[in-house]
Amino acid sequence: MSNAQRIAIVTGAARGIGAAVARRLAADGMAVAVLDLDETACGAVVAEIEKADGRALAVGADVSDEAAVEQAVERVAAELGAPNVLVNNAGVLRDNLLFKMSVDDWDTVMNVHLRGSFLMSRAVQRHMIEQKWGRIVSLSSTSALGNRGQANYAAAKAGLQGFTKTLAFELGKFGVTANAVAPGFIETDMTAATAARMGVPFEDFKKAVVATIPVARAGQPEDIAHTISFLTSEGAGFVSGQVIYVAGGPKN
Ligand SMILES: NC(=O)c1ccc[n+]([C@@H]2O[C@H](COP(=O)([O-])OP(=O)(O)OC[C@H]3O[C@@H](n4cnc5c(N)ncnc54)[C@H](O)[C@@H]3O)[C@@H](O)[C@H]2O)c1
Repeated sequence: MSNAQRIAIVTGAARGIGAAVARRLAADGMAVAVLDLDETACGAVVAEIEKADGRALAVGADVSDEAAVEQAVERVAAELGAPNVLVNNAGVLRDNLLFKMSVDDWDTVMNVHLRGSFLMSRAVQRHMIEQKWGRIVSLSSTSALGNRGQANYAAAKAGLQGFTKTLAFELGKFGVTANAVAPGFIETDMTAATAARMGVPFEDFKKAVVATIPVARAGQPEDIAHTISFLTSEGAGFVSGQVIYVAGGPKN
């Protein structure tokens, strides 16, 4: 399928990694639905894409809300075309040590990352299967391997790896691949908020993290967008069920 026939939905795309992925897929020639909680917050990314002669649509939806997801996917199908690329990127943090973690901290993280990716993938797959072509990429994290203060997030991000492999088994025969990208430290509002919560200036926080990264720099949203551009390309059709760590070095 040519890039011009590709219709992508990127969740959590109003800022950060999702915004970079939306811009990159649009530059690759896809029409892109920029989906986030607040439709107006998606406007700036849509405007940037349109300024670069791309095609984009702002869509407001909470990925953990079943009815909102169904409506959003049908709106994309009606206004942009039947979606055949999905990037499950929307995410939140509710970090706390286990003994302080509330049920709400647990449920919120599970609902956005896991339930959200499930609902979005289920709603989009029918369009992919009809077209006998699709690409699903979900954002995992190096935290899937375990991280202090992130029992909820680590469980959700590890869960997304199992989810991804299962989609690869079920959807492969319909021309649909499913992969996960697991970023390490990427400079975004999310990591800035983590530094703020710990009471550390972001520059100091960054310096301490960079000291542990083999390529000796912080990751940028564009590093993730580049990998997702590859995974959603025509040529990546034999790559499925994989987790690619994009972390400036190996993780163990
Ligand atoms: N920044 C990092 O270092 C890093 C590392 C590993 C994985 N990740 C993952 O990458 C993804 C993007 O992270 P980021 O750093 O760009 O985060 P961010 O906080 O900057 O952006 C996340 C976006 O998701 C949106 N969102 C949150 N809940 C939503 C919901 N229910 N429905 C729709 N949209 C929702 C937010 O409004 C926001 O625009 C997340 O899944 C995150 O877990 C980030």
